[in-house]
Amino acid sequence: MQLIEDLRAEHDLIEQVLGSLRTFVTARLTEGGDPADGPRFMAFFRRYAGDFHHAKEEDILFRALVEKAELPADRGPLGALTGEHRRMGGLLDAMAPLLEAPLIPAEDRARLRALAVDYSHALWRHIDAENSVLFPEGQERLRRFHVRELPSRPMTEAEAEAHRDGLALVAAYPPLYDPEAHRGDGCVACPSYGTTCDGLEVEWWTDLEWEDFEDRMSSD
Ligand SMILES: [Fe+2]
Ligand SMILES: [Fe+2]
Repeated sequence: MQLIEDLRAEHDLIEQVLGSLRTFVTARLTEGGDPADGPRFMAFFRRYAGDFHHAKEEDILFRALVEKAELPADRGPLGALTGEHRRMGGLLDAMAPLLEAPLIPAEDRARLRALAVDYSHALWRHIDAENSVLFPEGQERLRRFHVRELPSRPMTEAEAEAHRDGLALVAAYPPLYDPEAHRGDGCVACPSYGTTCDGLEVEWWTDLEWEDFEDRMSSD
């Protein structure tokens, strides 16, 4: 499905820019980095990750899963991932004045670092959950309801500019690799697992899938 391929490609850039954000913030805490790049990071995450990518997921993919594949909107994976979009938006709002400031006051530095760590970990793990669970499982459920393609949309000029900023920022600030991010595939690695979502089997599986699963287990 072209829409899902596009969303995966967007994830590839977003996860790189998150690593660059961490490199930039580390530099800014010691007076390094160009302060003018703070607003460019904000524009990338608000315009490209938010208005373009997250909104396309919610408005096109999640909506089709609810309206065409009969999946619940307010709980399970869709409720959890939508909630994560909101929470990450809140972290961006909190980070904006610090990231865009020409000078970061000493007393705000630990807070900026903590926000950048929280935001990057949340979005990396969110991307992993979408790539490994939501996209393949969602595509399969849409296929069962005879939906093989969904419309995408081109970027607006502001989104395209944010996209160009993202590419330039990755080149300027080599992405940091953070082993503390606890990334991984499957529901167990998802930040919402066990809090706002009980996992795919509990939330999405139908009687048919459980019967099929039991048949397979007993024939092994
Ligand atoms: Fe998402
Ligand atoms: Fe996504």
